[in-house]
Amino acid sequence: MQSLPTFDLVLFGGTGDLAMRKLLPALYRRSCAGQIDAASRIVGAARSQLTREEYLEQVRSSCETHLGSVFDAKKWTQFAEHLQYVRVDAQSDDDFGRLGELLRPQPQRVRVFFLSTGPDLFAPIAEALARHSLISPVSRVVLEKPLGYDGASSAEINERIGKLFPETSIFRIDHYLGKEAVQNLLALRFGNQLFEPLWRRGRIQHVQITVAEDVGVERRAQFYDHVGALRDMVQNHMLQLLCIIAMEPPASGAADATRDEKVKVLRALRPLTGRDVLQKTVRGQYKAGAVNGKPVVGYLEEKDMPKDSSTETFVALKVQVDSWRWAGVPFYLRTGKRLQEKQAEIVITFEDVPLSIYERPDTPHALNRLVIQLQPEESITLSVLAKSPGHGMVLKPVDLSLDFADAFKTRQLDAYERLLTDVINGTLTLFMRRDELEAAWSWIDPIRAAWQQHDERPKSYTAGSWGPAAASSLIGRDGFAWRNEL
Ligand code: BG6
Repeated sequence: MQSLPTFDLVLFGGTGDLAMRKLLPALYRRSCAGQIDAASRIVGAARSQLTREEYLEQVRSSCETHLGSVFDAKKWTQFAEHLQYVRVDAQSDDDFGRLGELLRPQPQRVRVFFLSTGPDLFAPIAEALARHSLISPVSRVVLEKPLGYDGASSAEINERIGKLFPETSIFRIDHYLGKEAVQNLLALRFGNQLFEPLWRRGRIQHVQITVAEDVGVERRAQFYDHVGALRDMVQNHMLQLLCIIAMEPPASGAADATRDEKVKVLRALRPLTGRDVLQKTVRGQYKAGAVNGKPVVGYLEEKDMPKDSSTETFVALKVQVDSWRWAGVPFYLRTGKRLQEKQAEIVITFEDVPLSIYERPDTPHALNRLVIQLQPEESITLSVLAKSPGHGMVLKPVDLSLDFADAFKTRQLDAYERLLTDVINGTLTLFMRRDELEAAWSWIDPIRAAWQQHDERPKSYTAGSWGPAAASSLIGRDGFAWRNEL
């Protein structure tokens, strides 16, 4: 494993949920793997008045909780040596002064400012860093989602941050891009010749992308209610998945070659506006039900939830990519909370044979289908038709399956382990460029505007189901069905 350059990483929001659940455990793992040299520092920065010992205690307890049996007390001592804590209130110049005292003696080091805070603080923090001359030529800033709440707020963040950091030092995170399974999609498409001739209109009948979660809003009622599924999941993760499926082969492995192709897909998305939005989208909100055999409350009964909230916890959309490759091929996207199970998958259904000469079942199962499962397990299944044993020539669908955990017996990096090491190494491929973000918002904003204009309230669905019936009709009207309904 390649070791990282010596770095100072300042984690704003260092006591927050993401830092405790994901970022610090990811760094702990990289430290255990021997990738972090002894001189590197990880500085938690947050508003709480904590001593270093108190902070260490919080980090330790959260690493223990989230890493379970992987946690090793001896290795913890080594990791803890990297950790520091500085109280920083984004409004307080004194606090940035103290942060400066810590960082300034090491001007040559890679310096990473990870902003795991609300987007309203991104620009004020970056501006305070600049005022205190803490942005060195080897500094990078990492922006964690949500990257704004709409096109305008996101543009403002980009504008203000862009005045202080060059684009090549801005790392906009979409943690889905850090998932090994998502990178495997790139490998599948561009490391093999096999699928390329089939990867287009005329060969592919339709594409489904499902990202289903069994959890509800957890303890994020306030945040989530302000955002909803469209902005929480579609604007970023799902559009990124769509881009990887639909993009043209990049000219090289360089970061901008991939990002150039993704942005072309985003710009080719057929706009959904006005009444068309009502035909091509479905909003849902979960009501009480049972998930994994346990009763759960409805969205409106969640703690701290406004009782009249009309925020969507589910969304399904029919999307068209207006390009030569994809004209006429529908992409159906759906995501939701409190669905039957946690599952993320991409299903590519191929066109039927031009002439059926053998007897075969008259069901949608009889089509070739490539199922790329991203979560909870990572696998690829290609369903083909084979002769069923016995007399005659009767065809039946069978699966060719590849389970990645089986094929590669080594542990896969968690998304944040991969993304954090990429930031420290300065590798931008898996991060969103400014124009990608702008293109994604320009497609999302009119959908929200149309929902508001037509007062489109979410349809309720029972927790533990696969979402509102209208989502089945959305795809059913075109003669198809979601894979779980086949
Ligand atoms: C986050 C969303 O970006 O992704 C969450 O804000 C969601 O609401 C999460 O639960 C899903 O990520 P994963 O990696 O669990 O699929």
